[in-house]
Amino acid sequence: MENLEAKIDGASSLEELEKVRVEIFGKKGVLAAEFAKLKDVPGPEKKAFAEGLNKKKAALQERFDARKRELEALELERKMRSEALDMTLFSNLGEKGALHPVRETMDRIIDYFVALNFAVESGPMVEDDFHNFEALNLPKHHPARDMQDTFYFADGTLLRTHTSPVQIRTMMRQKPPIRIIAPGAVFRRDYDLTHTPMFHQVEGLVVEEGEKVSFASLKWILTDFLHYMFGEVEVRFRPSFFPFTEPSAEVDISCIFCGGEGCRVCSHTGWLEVLGCGVVDPNVFKAVGYEGVSGYAFGLGVERFAMLLHRIPDLRSLFEGDIRLLEQFR
Ligand code: DAH
Repeated sequence: MENLEAKIDGASSLEELEKVRVEIFGKKGVLAAEFAKLKDVPGPEKKAFAEGLNKKKAALQERFDARKRELEALELERKMRSEALDMTLFSNLGEKGALHPVRETMDRIIDYFVALNFAVESGPMVEDDFHNFEALNLPKHHPARDMQDTFYFADGTLLRTHTSPVQIRTMMRQKPPIRIIAPGAVFRRDYDLTHTPMFHQVEGLVVEEGEKVSFASLKWILTDFLHYMFGEVEVRFRPSFFPFTEPSAEVDISCIFCGGEGCRVCSHTGWLEVLGCGVVDPNVFKAVGYEGVSGYAFGLGVERFAMLLHRIPDLRSLFEGDIRLLEQFR
């Protein structure tokens, strides 16, 4: 019974302490042996003997618990030291991903318009003739339908050839004022250096009651937008034709590769065409049942922007999933 305290204090690990615990407090331990002597102690002394033993036991227990806490703290300390991570070490384990250049370009475009309070709308990719053509002032047999080589399904539905049908769906669903962009995939039967059967567009539409919206509002926002995307470029509006806008324009920026001098990318014109736009044609408003409103619309191809921003020569390479191309965008 003498040096039990010293034994407890001398345990230098939790394992050693456990051995000491069995030795002292176990069924066959020192204390159990002491308590067993109780039956041989003469009657009058039993109480004092038992009391002394219980006190001793409580004291030992306390000592034991204290040493256990100490050793646990030491153990934790040791573990933390051995498992410490050096956050400044470089690691080449694992590959870091990146946004696809089309996604990243799309996000940049969306960010610009969202900051100007445009809502982001979407619509179905499988469309009907009414939303994709008819309501956009492209009646059946209209020659402008030839501009778009359409994938048709047997039931007469089609894969949308542009994101403009989202204009129609939005106007039929809500009243002006409208201020939306509609990003998404579109489909055309086309495949060469600068065309893939699936690509992405962002459509824009602003409609207000009365005469508030004009070509001037459109010109301001698109010029500012193109500066945001391409930096300090010249922006030029060239009269054009779209069935859903009147007047219509195509917008060019001065070639970002040659600065307007003329090079292969701009076909030696010094200009790059980047989007189509115009004042919403009254026939479109008629188709959705709007009266006494004014609006502008625009549409652009996201891949074309990505190609220009990243100098990607072949549009098809964006959809081949070739890791060597994609790795360049990390
Ligand atoms: N929908 C046209 C296209 O696919 C792009 C476009 C041009 C959209 C002019 C417009 C617009 O809203 O006003 O080529």
